[in-house]
Amino acid sequence: VVVVRHRMRSSGLWARAAAVVRELEERCATPIGKLRQIADAMTVEMHAGLASEGGSKLKMLLSYVDNLPTGDERGLFYALDLGGTNFRVLRVQLGGKEGRVAKQEYEEVSIPPHLMVGGSHELFDFIASALAQFIASESDDFHLPDGRQRELGFTFSFPVKQSSIASGALIKWTKGFAIDGTVGEDVVAELTRALERQGLDMRVSALVNDTIGTLAGGRYDDNDVVAAVILGTGTNAAYVERAHAIPKWHGLLPKSGEMVINMEWGNFRSSHLPLTDYDQDLDFESLNPGEQIYEKLISGMYLGEIVRRVLLRLAQETSLFGDTVPSKLEVPFILRTPHMSAMHHDTSPDLKVVGAKLKEVLGIPSTSLKTRKMVVGICDIVARRGARLAAAGIYGILKKLGRDSVSTEGGGSKQRTVIAMDGGLYEHYTIFRECLESTLREMLGEAASASIVIKLANDGSGIGAALLAASHSQYLEVEES
Ligand code: GLC
Repeated sequence: VVVVRHRMRSSGLWARAAAVVRELEERCATPIGKLRQIADAMTVEMHAGLASEGGSKLKMLLSYVDNLPTGDERGLFYALDLGGTNFRVLRVQLGGKEGRVAKQEYEEVSIPPHLMVGGSHELFDFIASALAQFIASESDDFHLPDGRQRELGFTFSFPVKQSSIASGALIKWTKGFAIDGTVGEDVVAELTRALERQGLDMRVSALVNDTIGTLAGGRYDDNDVVAAVILGTGTNAAYVERAHAIPKWHGLLPKSGEMVINMEWGNFRSSHLPLTDYDQDLDFESLNPGEQIYEKLISGMYLGEIVRRVLLRLAQETSLFGDTVPSKLEVPFILRTPHMSAMHHDTSPDLKVVGAKLKEVLGIPSTSLKTRKMVVGICDIVARRGARLAAAGIYGILKKLGRDSVSTEGGGSKQRTVIAMDGGLYEHYTIFRECLESTLREMLGEAASASIVIKLANDGSGIGAALLAASHSQYLEVEES
């Protein structure tokens, strides 16, 4: 009798758990028709954001980059990349068309979590002091002509309203940063003051978003790069727009006729987005409720957290993990996207990686194969939704650029379109990446897909910032004359 009753209890449990997962799957569905609606909404919002300031949730920020690297850049330049859990300092010796990136060195420093939610001064001082140490280690392989000031490209991966290539005010923090007193301030001025406090004589020559840096770095390697997408802690995209297609731009028309736009697509929102209760709750409890909704469905900061929320509900409502809810499962952000990815890619017959992660990360001592399979299924639903939504966004950009269908140029040769990609999610989460790419192919159709290339531009954004610092160097005219 006991056995029978136990089975009945467990079959009821499974039925309820399966129903929760089925509901998740239905709510997260992204059939191609929906993705097309999302892509269309993206292009509509792109137009609206370009038309007027505040015209859309998509800020479509002017980068003041109207010329991308040509290969002629020369000299020693530094870059500083702030925007995720780590920040990076970098130096490159650029040698023009022949020398290219003759030498480069970088260092990565993780940001102590308390600095991400502390005061502005503390954060910038920490960065400046790491940069000072890095500069102190510069060897003779790098060469700065006598009497010159060192110059820096500052990759600052948050929404900034720029007023020139080397100045701009922070609009808001994203991705778990919440620092007092920086919103509305010129981040270059903040950094410059911190550099001075360190006694560093250095000029910030370019302030760029990571998407802009990646686009610049991508273009340096490949002339056909027209857009860049970041899929990392956060997500965002930039692309090259024709200056006269930017009605809100009242400045002088750049000679190139072009301007790179930082879309800040993480803040995209549309009624077509497949939002679940888990997403609503995550957003509500986040540091920035109501903001960055598209980012919260796609990017690395959030995917693991969505999965955790689903597992928590299963634990609470179906006792999937035993009679008590494992306490770690209640800790927000404890399940990181790299954990999720490791479970999702587990190919061992007994899903031992899944078992181990559930145990180590969430404190769930033992799980049946059936439970583990269910967990993998949840990772799959959440990752595929994110990847497919990102593909729809890229398709939206290609539509805006008129490169979503086969076009011919000159002698009828196909116009190649390259999108530079960067970010840990894209780089390391294989299923996510493959799903994004196959979805994009599906949306484009075979013929158009043939001319679209997605290229990993690994740490393109650091080199890109250094290249833009070079092309906006205070010594440029001296050199050119
Ligand atoms: C967030 C930031 C954006 C950045 C992106 C990727 O969306 O707001 O500026 O480009 O993350 O790092």
